Amino acid sequence: MSRYRDVYEGWRADPEGFWAEAAKAVDWFKPADRIFDGSIGAYGRWFVGAQCNAAYNCLDRHVAAGRGQQPAIFYDNPVTGAKRMLTYAELLDEVEVFAAALARLGVCKGDRVVIYMPMVPEVAVAMLAVARLGAIHSVVFGGFAANELAVRLDDAKPKVVISASCGIEPKHLVKYKPLLDAAIAAAAHKPDHCIILQRPMETASLLPGRDLDWAALMTETRAGGHRAACVPVAATDPLYILYTSGSTGQPKGVVRDTGGYMVALVWTMKNLYGLAPGEVFWSASDVGWVVGHSYIIYGPLLYGNTTIIYEGKPVGTPDAGAFWRVASEYKVAAFFTAPTALRAIKKEDPNGHLIANYDLSRLRTLFLAGERADPETVRWAEQVLAVPVIDHWWQTETGWAITGNPVGLEALPVKAGSSTVPMPGYDIHILDDDGRDVAQGVLGNVAVKLPLPPGCLTTLWNAEERFGPSYTDRFPGYYATADAGFRDEDGYLFIMGRTDDIINVAGHRLSTGAMEEVLASHKDIAECAVIGAADALKGELPVGFVVLKAGVARDPKEIEGEIVALVRERIGPVAAFKTVRIVGRLPKTRSGKILRGTIKKIVDGTEYKAPPTIDDPAILGEIGAVLSARPITG
Ligand code: COA
Ligand code: AMP
Repeated sequence: MSRYRDVYEGWRADPEGFWAEAAKAVDWFKPADRIFDGSIGAYGRWFVGAQCNAAYNCLDRHVAAGRGQQPAIFYDNPVTGAKRMLTYAELLDEVEVFAAALARLGVCKGDRVVIYMPMVPEVAVAMLAVARLGAIHSVVFGGFAANELAVRLDDAKPKVVISASCGIEPKHLVKYKPLLDAAIAAAAHKPDHCIILQRPMETASLLPGRDLDWAALMTETRAGGHRAACVPVAATDPLYILYTSGSTGQPKGVVRDTGGYMVALVWTMKNLYGLAPGEVFWSASDVGWVVGHSYIIYGPLLYGNTTIIYEGKPVGTPDAGAFWRVASEYKVAAFFTAPTALRAIKKEDPNGHLIANYDLSRLRTLFLAGERADPETVRWAEQVLAVPVIDHWWQTETGWAITGNPVGLEALPVKAGSSTVPMPGYDIHILDDDGRDVAQGVLGNVAVKLPLPPGCLTTLWNAEERFGPSYTDRFPGYYATADAGFRDEDGYLFIMGRTDDIINVAGHRLSTGAMEEVLASHKDIAECAVIGAADALKGELPVGFVVLKAGVARDPKEIEGEIVALVRERIGPVAAFKTVRIVGRLPKTRSGKILRGTIKKIVDGTEYKAPPTIDDPAILGEIGAVLSARPITG
């Protein structure tokens, strides 16, 4: 039996024993009374009765064990050339002081703190300081617009917001403070305070009384000798809320608990990513996404690795060798990115010539996630990097990989296009629409038999009642992933795409439903549909089809421009919404449901049949004619 099989079957035979063993890698203030209690919450809760603290496990225990002088964070900005290193001892020091500052502003256990920051070391300080106090952070990605931030402020109701004067994009600065001010003005909930990190290239104006300067606050708190100790929390208490796209404009606040999450992440660092403490792990994502939470901050620090906060892009900062420069300079052992970033590199450096400029001898494995890894990109990366390229599949909701290739246990053969096999904790079923298991090789709904393992979402913030309709009602006894896929003869999983209206744009998860809400709010629009058109670089790009209200006789180009600007203003640049087509009618079923799937096929140029339920098949031809007259070029 293979080592992976052994471990997976071991988990199956005794799930609680498996996780109890894994939990030994975490330091607990009080051990669990019960490893799992199926009677609590939506599907049960892990490590009930245990007391712990995530910041303690990321920092204090490592410093106490002699890891104080090891780098915890390398920060690198290829645009400004700024670099910074913080050891574990230095990071602990900053976190203790910043946590004390937050406590002095009234932040207590269970309070929420929203973090809206670029990729700077202070974002790690902020997250860990909040965790130290037993408070709950909610990080909002910088590419979201003020309106999206406002929605999150109203839902999370933070006491304090932590932000910065600006973020650095390759060709421009993103001024965060005006966005933050606009969000607070738009939100019903007003935070007591905002702490602003002033960066050298942009000084934000501060509102007296409400806004505080990060540096001044740190100096004052340090001078006063204030330091915060770790507040013990229940393993089942929330560590953070991370909002993700749902099918409406109201995002879902995924709630992550503290104890189970730590146990799962530590298990993956060793067994999935194959690392040893002390090695450098680099995830080139953003802290605003789940990958950033789990594998820029918590996973590497929990396991005593060095992490990298990279405020740059795969290309253009300055060239397509940027990733290889960072991997070589910081002696990265395992690297994690999204396939879209590799496609961007491949486009500019198709033969990987720039790789030869760097010493990548420490790099053992490249991991991919965030979207489907297309076989061509996987093969290209294998060839130019000469290391195993491992696709693994997960979601904001799960917090860690559902399927993967556990190189720490045993490197299974790579099949390009497959994210390999289920991780312990996940009993995966491929179900037909009636909830019956389908045969091997047949595409179906990918579902996980309940309970979910430690580390997965426990509930939705302020919306417990959305949990069932979102995840467990569709197939009773299962968590519905909303992904479609199949299993091959070796038990490998192939994840092919979403079954709902979520699209994946450059590794970013976006809701077409939320975009449609924005389009529909335009005064001239009668109805609309947004679909994800296939794109060679970003995977998918949103395209809007709109029907104008009767009698609207304005310049269509002007209306299109307004719609594009509206999505940018309401959702943000991250939506990459740039294409609109005005059409006379939208194809619908006889019951009035817009046939988005068919529109997508027409846009992608894939074969399609008019669905039997279609009301008027002639509309498909009309859409085709609009696209022939003005093709979508990406
Ligand atoms: N703050 C503010 N704005 C941001 C931002 C941030 N943190 N990140 C992106 N944006 C903006 C960009 O400036 C761009 O704005 P523009 O329309 O004014 O040009 C817009 O959002 C779209 O950004 P992006 O999707 O990143 O496209 P890009 O053309 O700048 O870069 C890639 C393309 C492929 C290089 C880039 O998308 C990438 O590196 N993707 C990897 C994604 C990833 O790691 N995902 C994590 C999930 S695992
Ligand atoms: P997010 O919640 O932003 O991590 O997005 C999760 C969604 O991204 C999943 O439900 C999938 O649709 C998609 N996804 C993430 N990783 C993969 C992968 N390795 N293969 C296929 N799809 C993926």
